[in-house]
Amino acid sequence: MPKSELVERIRHLKEEKGAVILAHNYQLPEIQDIADHLGDSLALSRLATTLPQEIILFCGVFFMAETAAILSPRKRVILPDPTAGCPMADMITAEALARLQEKHPGAYTVMYVNSTAEVKALADCCCTSANGVEMVAAAPADREIIFAPDKYLGGWIATRTGREMILWNGFCPSHQKFVPEEIRGLRRKYPGAVVMSHPEVNPGIAAESDVILGTGGMIDFAGKDPAGTFIVGTEVGMVYRLQKLYPGKRFLPASPRALCPNMKKITLEKVLTALESLEPVIRVAPDTARAARAAIERMLKTGRAEKNS
Ligand code: 13P
Ligand code: SF4
Repeated sequence: MPKSELVERIRHLKEEKGAVILAHNYQLPEIQDIADHLGDSLALSRLATTLPQEIILFCGVFFMAETAAILSPRKRVILPDPTAGCPMADMITAEALARLQEKHPGAYTVMYVNSTAEVKALADCCCTSANGVEMVAAAPADREIIFAPDKYLGGWIATRTGREMILWNGFCPSHQKFVPEEIRGLRRKYPGAVVMSHPEVNPGIAAESDVILGTGGMIDFAGKDPAGTFIVGTEVGMVYRLQKLYPGKRFLPASPRALCPNMKKITLEKVLTALESLEPVIRVAPDTARAARAAIERMLKTGRAEKNS
């Protein structure tokens, strides 16, 4: 089916079924173009709780749709491809976290939302890249902190807050594709360009960067900063997002190899099929959902979010 027809049918079915399409900033351009709302992990979880629609078609990875389902248990949350996972989220299991918590009784557990519902259920609070610093700063001062699963995000938060943390050895494979020499080469080619990197990058890349921001923070920053050229140290989908928002500025990927294959699993064809059948629905066992919701809601109440569009 031609792309224009696919888009037309998606628009029509979405209206007919009363669904809303949410998409993460890393989604394919054609998915970004059909979304009702685009955002980072934090903005999308907030939206899930405030939107009037009963059907949420989520274009992102599994943990994002699962978070929406946890926050809105009465809504129908659909993920067009349920195999769109997050390798980092799979680097920690509930059993392994429970063992670490046994070794550190009394520790306060801050869990990056890039994690499964079972893991979140064992955490004291969640955080995203947008509010990790605030969440760790708000942790009780007299308790040890366990941070999981991203050791690089955790390490960066530790330097910002001065809080020592027990870090899980997880990481995002897509954010490890950057190399310092490539960024230096781009700086030489585009003098005055600002390098914005995601806190999931490793410290060597963070040291090459001018600012470290989540995807929502990058959108705000690029809109306000006077620079005309930005080197984008995060998943490549972000370049399309920024370029569309700010056509007068130039956005270059810090590495074209920084691609999240799971984010790219959501296609127009799969969106259409999902709208036709209103499947596959993301469901979370009620006990797990209840415990995970407490950790996510603590984040939504405490975290001072970066502004998102
Ligand atoms: P943001 O919350 O900054 O959008 O990041 C989500 C993510 O998966 C980063 O890899
Ligand atoms: Fe997970 Fe990395 Fe993909 Fe984000 S970019 S969803 S952290 S694998």
